[in-house]
Amino acid sequence: MEYLPVTVDKSHLITIGERLYSESIELIRELVNNAYDADATEVDIKMTDESIEVKDNGTGMDREGLRQYFNIGSPEKIVKNKSPIFHRDLIGQFGIGKFASLSACECFEVYTQKGEFTAKVTFDKMEWEKEGDQWNLPLRILPPNRERGDGTTVTLLRLSGGYP
Ligand SMILES: Nc1ncnc2c1ncn2[C@@H]1O[C@H](COP(=O)(O)OP(=O)(O)OP(=O)(O)O)[C@@H](O)[C@H]1O
Ligand SMILES: [Mg+2]
Repeated sequence: MEYLPVTVDKSHLITIGERLYSESIELIRELVNNAYDADATEVDIKMTDESIEVKDNGTGMDREGLRQYFNIGSPEKIVKNKSPIFHRDLIGQFGIGKFASLSACECFEVYTQKGEFTAKVTFDKMEWEKEGDQWNLPLRILPPNRERGDGTTVTLLRLSGGYP
């Protein structure tokens, strides 16, 4: 018996983001939905010509949380069903909403803080495609910012034409 490997092309992630979420409002909605699911009580959205920033005061993510963030197609929210603090009915289902950002920008950063853990991950389309078979993203551990408190900030950089 021979076996045939099933493979997924790396560029597919970008295609998902670009094709599935083609309306600008959808990507903001995806980010706000994620903040809601993370038990945020406030979401701050800042738009300039250069960037869109969505900042929440939700639970934030630790290393494991960030790993979960970049797990494609994770059914976590269907399995868990309720948010940890406010027991909200979770909106997320597919584990791909984060790629909605890619419909509007060339690069997005996820800055997150949970307790003593603070870090930033960058997803850059060009770097992603350039790195060939590499499936890792740069993760920078940062000193905690106590003033900011727990939560996540997603920043879209190098906006593509037509947005917002
Ligand atoms: N703002 C956030 N705060 C804390 N955790 C987050 C945040 N955004 C995403 N996550 C984590 O990252 C995971 C992936 O998010 P993503 O939006 O891709 O998928 P989802 O919300 O589970 O499903 P859907 O594709 O329907 O949006 C989430 O399941 C959650 O664990
Ligand atoms: Mg989501």
